[in-house]
Amino acid sequence: MAIREIRMNGDEILRKKSREVDIVDDKIRQILDDMVETMYSANGVGLSAVQVGILKRLVVIDVEYDGGPAIKLVNPVIVKTKGMQECQEGCLSFPNQFAIVRRPKEVIVKALDENGKPITIKGKELLAQALCHELDHLDGTLFVDQMEEGTLEYVDNTENREKK
Ligand code: NI
Repeated sequence: MAIREIRMNGDEILRKKSREVDIVDDKIRQILDDMVETMYSANGVGLSAVQVGILKRLVVIDVEYDGGPAIKLVNPVIVKTKGMQECQEGCLSFPNQFAIVRRPKEVIVKALDENGKPITIKGKELLAQALCHELDHLDGTLFVDQMEEGTLEYVDNTENREKK
């Protein structure tokens, strides 16, 4: 596994739409493993492939903080949402920046796992937030596009903050 460089706000790749993965092979599994390692090394709870410069619809998430196993998703799609929550949200591509974003309180996501098998993930609260945030990345949408006006803040001490 390898830690990859995280692309930062202002890098135009973050605005591009990622492409669907046709075949889940060893190359894809390698990218997913690298993404997990990169996410942990940056103390994040989620990461999309575009954030490491790869325009493929791949997402990793771990909201449990226990070092794994992380959720690895290929071609994820939100199929159902329920309720609403106001989240304080950050992004690994926006160091030290946080804002309030409204997200569904629950989501159901269909995807392929790292072996190409169809899976369904049900996420509530932080997991729902993380799923929405990471899936947005795949279409070039960033949390600052959706934040409540005037809520963006710059924070030096990012301990105990969720980073995606
Ligand atoms: Ni992000």
